[in-house]
Amino acid sequence: MQLSLIIPLRHLTRSFNGLLRSHPTLPKSWITGVAIALLTGLTWLNLALPAQAAPDPYVLRYLDVNEPVELTIDDSGATRPFSIEEISKGKRLFEDSCKNCHVGGATLPNPLISLSLETLKGATPPRDNIASLVAYMREPLSYDGTEEAFGCRQVPESWLSQTEVENLSAFILRAAQKGPGWGATSF
Ligand code: HEC
Repeated sequence: MQLSLIIPLRHLTRSFNGLLRSHPTLPKSWITGVAIALLTGLTWLNLALPAQAAPDPYVLRYLDVNEPVELTIDDSGATRPFSIEEISKGKRLFEDSCKNCHVGGATLPNPLISLSLETLKGATPPRDNIASLVAYMREPLSYDGTEEAFGCRQVPESWLSQTEVENLSAFILRAAQKGPGWGATSF
């Protein structure tokens, strides 16, 4: 923060002196006012931007994501790393759109089909990797995979992008692996 402020400050001082030279009639207080407003804006930007990208404390502490974690992306068993930022974004999406029915990984309207790892694995086809979770969100199917499931919330592409549903799936998968008490089927 210090470095990034010093540079604009130098620029500002230079243009401030330049402005005074070219417009000797401009009241000094007016120019100072503009300079202060600019600086306040810069400081605000400086403080606001890093805060936005802050890792989620639950993801950090309870899902144990200190560095990118490898998650299985399809049924071939291939993996790719997901960063704490991606998983934190997934958590936010989950809270906005899924938590009402799936608080703590449970499924309130149908408790037996929770988001626990065991239950996800037991579905046909298994829902324990990124691609199969994404496929489920795009078109929810019954637990045995034979018909459409109407109880869950379908996520069309017009609502969440491919990257967003992948982040959301990464959060669910990591929570199913690590989240304390995640996906209870009886309560
Ligand atoms: C209105 C309540 C509701 C909302 C909101 C909801 N779900 Fe569901 N979800 C359900 C129900 C009910 C089921 C079980 C469906 C069935 O009968 O097969 C389910 C099942 C699932 C399953 C399959 C679980 C398994 O073990 O096979 C996944 C994955 C899932 N939901 C993800 C999501 C995601 C992601 C969101 C947010 C975008 C979401 N759900 C929002 C009600 C909901």
